[in-house]
Amino acid sequence: MQLLKVRVKSITYLAQDILGYEFEGANGQTLPAFTAGSHIDLHVENVPMRSYSLCNRYVDSKTYRIAICKDINSRGGSIGYLNNLKAGQIIEISAPRNNFEFHGKQNEIVFIAGGIGITPILSMIETAQNLNWKLYYFARSEDKCAFAEYLGKTYPENVEIIFSDCVNKIPKRVDDVFNDHSKTAEFYCCGPGNMIEEFKKFHAEFPNTYYESFVAEHQVSTENSYTVELRKSNKFIEVVQGETLLDALLNNGCDVMNSCREGICGACETLVLEGEVDHRDSILTDDEKRQNKSMFPCCSSAKGKFLVLDL
Ligand code: FES
Repeated sequence: MQLLKVRVKSITYLAQDILGYEFEGANGQTLPAFTAGSHIDLHVENVPMRSYSLCNRYVDSKTYRIAICKDINSRGGSIGYLNNLKAGQIIEISAPRNNFEFHGKQNEIVFIAGGIGITPILSMIETAQNLNWKLYYFARSEDKCAFAEYLGKTYPENVEIIFSDCVNKIPKRVDDVFNDHSKTAEFYCCGPGNMIEEFKKFHAEFPNTYYESFVAEHQVSTENSYTVELRKSNKFIEVVQGETLLDALLNNGCDVMNSCREGICGACETLVLEGEVDHRDSILTDDEKRQNKSMFPCCSSAKGKFLVLDL
């Protein structure tokens, strides 16, 4: 897995418990291009690897920007980064990957962000400047709302911020947003699990709906035991009950890139040549799962007893 060396160029206070980080090439090198909705994985010693959305627009290939929010249920990731990353420090990151593409093809674009879910949406907004778009940004309170001032000042006509601690009126909800827009609009949503669940309910009626979740939607699959053929390496491996396919691959010397290990980040995507997959990721659409062309071995497994992978 090829990693990029970057320097922490600046750290900025964005809101309560949220800091912004800007990275530049450690040797002044150009950073790889990315599209709105992309994310990178951070690789920092003694801190668990985590993925963060890029929130700027790729313009000059000089910097990547992310925002990290302190997660009260942190397993060491967000708190580790917030406590340990220092300005000037050199760290390693993955090249950007995109599981949340921005299309911008319809006449009406609607963005829905919840809390720190604003980060990929911000990158899309900067990309959608000449389009007809509207942002609904849900946050707990003003002091926890990253980029609120920037968004309000730069796009006063396009941005509606909804605080859930608002005492004078009932705050708007995700279904109110859908009621206010046409069926042909493009809808993008990033936020907490309950917001994504609400959002997904509208997919049948509003076909252009796209979302990214921070939390795994399904349990990792380890119930089954099966044989996997690695066609390129001409190898067969046995996956036993209680083991993920990713662990079996790594234990057998197969260098598969990985990060979240719960089917969210997309790092471990692997092409499937034969066999049916029990898909447990939160990335592929239902259609893509039915097509069975790729899988995420950190969380998904064989449905039957045999699987052939392009490894
Ligand atoms: S490691 Fe993140 S999807 Fe597999």
